[in-house]
Amino acid sequence: DTARFTLDPAFTIGEVSPRLFGSFVEHLGRCVHTGTHEPGHPTADAAGLRQDVLDLVRELGVTTIRYPGGNFVSGYKWEDSVGPAEDRPRRLDLAWHSTETNRFGFSEYIAFLRKLGPQAEPMMALNLGTRGVAEALELQEYANHPSGTALSDLRAAHGDKDPFGIRLWCLGNEMDGPWQTGHKTAREYGRLAAETARAMRQQDPGVELVACGSSGQSMETFAAWEATVLEEAYDVVDHISLHAYYEPLDGDVDSFLASAVDMESFIENVVATCDHVGARLKSKKRIDLSFDEWNVWYLSRWQERATTFAQDDWPEAPRLLEDNYSVTDAVVLGSLLIALLRHADRVAVACLAQLVNVIAPIMTEPGGPAWRQTTFFPFAQASRYGRGRVLDVRVDSPTYGTAKYGETDLLHATAVRGEDGSVTVFAVNRDRAGVLPLEVTLGSLGLTAVVEHSALADADPDARNTLDEPDRVLPHDVTGTTLQDGTLTATLEPLSWNVIRLA
Ligand code: AHR
Repeated sequence: DTARFTLDPAFTIGEVSPRLFGSFVEHLGRCVHTGTHEPGHPTADAAGLRQDVLDLVRELGVTTIRYPGGNFVSGYKWEDSVGPAEDRPRRLDLAWHSTETNRFGFSEYIAFLRKLGPQAEPMMALNLGTRGVAEALELQEYANHPSGTALSDLRAAHGDKDPFGIRLWCLGNEMDGPWQTGHKTAREYGRLAAETARAMRQQDPGVELVACGSSGQSMETFAAWEATVLEEAYDVVDHISLHAYYEPLDGDVDSFLASAVDMESFIENVVATCDHVGARLKSKKRIDLSFDEWNVWYLSRWQERATTFAQDDWPEAPRLLEDNYSVTDAVVLGSLLIALLRHADRVAVACLAQLVNVIAPIMTEPGGPAWRQTTFFPFAQASRYGRGRVLDVRVDSPTYGTAKYGETDLLHATAVRGEDGSVTVFAVNRDRAGVLPLEVTLGSLGLTAVVEHSALADADPDARNTLDEPDRVLPHDVTGTTLQDGTLTATLEPLSWNVIRLA
């Protein structure tokens, strides 16, 4: 059976925001310490930033980077993380039962972004768990006010004369989750988010603010939470957040491969909820989505481990959440990217959680090398080629049975048309056993050639990149893909992520 779809330049979804290719650095495990920052490492600069990691982050094509948490942010005192590094206090991090040295802090985060280049944009999360409006305003003044006030002058005294110019702020993190330090009801949080947002806009009306939505579609309070928070904060926030992590449960790989079905329904349900509140408020304003945590995460393994923590042990930069990703995981991650692109009209921001070592596309060894996980490749390719307008793709595909989502298309696909008229098709074949023939009718797009067909697939879907074998899994070129008389014909390998570039 062949999977088919038609592309037509007249039928588009929307423009891809560069912010769709964001990521996330949290003070968690070794994401920061021995990840982005390792003074004394052979590649470290004077500030202790690892240049080998910076090179890989650039290659990954990451744009917006959310910081400093995550659950960590609900105990974060920003004052601890500025000024001379040797004077910074060591603190207990309740979220991850660790000791935080603060040797990498707010200004190092900004230095890291500046080193990455102009495409890198800060996305700063505020602590609305154990702190509130006053501390948010202080942090905003320290970061963004040019000069002549106590906190802007303090920033200059710390060596940062130029303001950080942070536009995008998260009003807390996962405040719906009972695990969150300072967890709140929707009404309590909605009020606090609205008050913080109003005050921040008094300082600078140009800030863009993300209210916390649900930490997952399966939360008991899902949708009611979003509706209540937005009833309080609709006029003063710009985005609402979504978080989702996927893993194969009970060995059900077929459902795992269809994780994007859940992600797409989550997006559509949040859009419906935002628009419902907007309609009730008779508002002309539209709230967009910030999918600011998403990934494959073997969360159940972590949950088993978390219960065995020694209560008197508060390690520094322990090895936490260091999932080693397989080819199967990379194909699912590619499919999640397709889901985000397919909703580019409403998903304005998305952050792959996280960037280094912690459920990450980039791994490091302390004192040793940095390397790419399997999941690195779909992200890097999507960021590189997924820029422009998303075309409306409606597939006619053979299906397979999944326990979680019922009959599901074997093909998951999207296509993006660049400014130069070139088109990139991103496609996943969910069939573990068989190839999937693909035919795409290209209508009036004026395309004449296949520039490249790259695939990530392997005879061993469990293959992974490791410290000992960092290049075991790489994307490869596929031959035999043709474009003739306005029809693209390709064969998608079993369980594969595909990037087909047309010009
Ligand atoms: O990304 C790991 C954790 O997942 C984050 O700290 C939290 O926000 C989410 O539950």
